[in-house]
Amino acid sequence: MAILKIVKFDEPLIRKVSRPVEEITPRILTLLDDMTETMRAAGGCGLAAVQVGVLRRVVVIEVEEGNVIELINPKIIAYAGEQEDAEGCLSNPGNYGIVRRPAAVTVRALDRYGKEFEVNGKDLLARAICHECDHLDGKIYTDIELRPLTREEIKEMSR
Ligand code: NI
Repeated sequence: MAILKIVKFDEPLIRKVSRPVEEITPRILTLLDDMTETMRAAGGCGLAAVQVGVLRRVVVIEVEEGNVIELINPKIIAYAGEQEDAEGCLSNPGNYGIVRRPAAVTVRALDRYGKEFEVNGKDLLARAICHECDHLDGKIYTDIELRPLTREEIKEMSR
């Protein structure tokens, strides 16, 4: 496994639309492993392939420690409710914004064996799924944030 360099918000690549995975090759499996290692090393709870410079529809999420969810070609097929909370991104280190997201979502994707599955997520998991799926379309949370957190609020968060 390898820790990859994370693309930042000011790099044009972050705005690119990722292409679907047509075949789950060993390269895709290595990508998934490297993404998980990179996400953990950076202390994040989600990462999209575009953030490590690969324009493929691949996402990893770890909201619950030790439970990594790998999503290939994810599609949100249902959502319900609303939540507003602080959100950050490994491509925008040290910054957070208040973002409105669905309270719950259902995402359909392929797993690493090419099998279709669904995940129901609420609260932070729903937020992470939405955030990472947005990345696959070149969208970032600052596009839709209600407001950025102030330095003081960020300091409070880490306390
Ligand atoms: Ni992000």
